[in-house]
Amino acid sequence: MEDQAEKLREIVRQRGSAVGLNSSSAGGSLGTSFIPRVGDSDAGISVFPSSREGGGIVKAGADRRYSSSVRDGKTRIITVTSGKGGVGKTNLSVNLALAYARLGKKVVVMDADLGLANVNVILNVIPKYNLYHVIRKQKTMRDILVETDYGISIVPGASGFSQIANMTDDERQNFINELETLSAADIIIIDTSAGVSSNVMDFIAAADDAVIITTPEPTAITDAYGIIKIIATEYESPNMGLKLVVNRVKSVAEAKKVADRMTNIAGQFLNLKVDYLGFVYDDSAVSHAVLRQRPFMVVDPKCKASLCVQHIVDRMEKSELKPSGGFGAMMKRLFGKN
Ligand SMILES: Nc1ncnc2c1ncn2[C@@H]1O[C@H](COP(=O)(O)OP(=O)(O)OP(=O)(O)O)[C@@H](O)[C@H]1O
Ligand SMILES: [Mg+2]
Repeated sequence: MEDQAEKLREIVRQRGSAVGLNSSSAGGSLGTSFIPRVGDSDAGISVFPSSREGGGIVKAGADRRYSSSVRDGKTRIITVTSGKGGVGKTNLSVNLALAYARLGKKVVVMDADLGLANVNVILNVIPKYNLYHVIRKQKTMRDILVETDYGISIVPGASGFSQIANMTDDERQNFINELETLSAADIIIIDTSAGVSSNVMDFIAAADDAVIITTPEPTAITDAYGIIKIIATEYESPNMGLKLVVNRVKSVAEAKKVADRMTNIAGQFLNLKVDYLGFVYDDSAVSHAVLRQRPFMVVDPKCKASLCVQHIVDRMEKSELKPSGGFGAMMKRLFGKN
């Protein structure tokens, strides 16, 4: 466990202090985040070719709901992350979004994975443009926002950019302005790539709630602990609520065992409060829905996994957004901007 955590921390160390992860360096720049390296393939318009007729595409750039001016800063930003890959981040992000939408919330899912974007794949959306184009000032956030059939909007990520380069000051300022377009949403769910890269840590820093996902597999638990340990190391007093979801469990007892272990270790050794948010059953309905490129909450709203997600949203709703939270606070945390 120690080795993995050290390894992850080393990665963060290597990226230097430019990103300003410590809460004390709130004035720091976003530094290295978000940006694909210039010259990497094309602009990364992702997607597996779909055998279905672009069923998820609705109206790119047509969603005026998000085009109003900045709201009162009460947008809740939820970053979904994990140590190990493939544990269920994208499925949880999308289905959480649906559960929130059913509560009447305006929800945006941002695919912050610029290496292997797949929010759009799960929703069978083939976006023309993505975050890369916004960062490079070729498109506005409104241009790339895609409203889906499911009452949620997505900010598509890019595929094929494993490396991240610096943003110029000009690009950064532009990106801040563009992000503000999203402040009309009630909920922004940020689906990250696995592990600790600089942009993942920035998105965790930006969050009101950092939802860490693990499965009961020892490797996933170890890597989830690694992430928690890095957060504890990087932030003197983490501002975001740390929340744990145990995915793919066979029983309530199994989930509880994993959660107890993780929350206890985090409390005991890292002095960090991690809230156990809930679990999702290992459910074949999930993989069936993925194959159909539709969210499981839609394909099978009564399946065990759907009920679990519903329960998780209920729990989230009961946990208060800190007065210091919301969109304005996110901007400040990321960019030192009011
Ligand atoms: N609760 C579940 N029950 C059954 N299968 C699941 C469950 N959650 C996830 N899976 C399976 O795991 C696969 C990977 O899930 P997902 O793409 O959401 O993971 P991820 O963490 O986003 O992966 P990556 O790190 O590559 O982005 C899904 O395609 C599905 O087959
Ligand atoms: Mg994913």
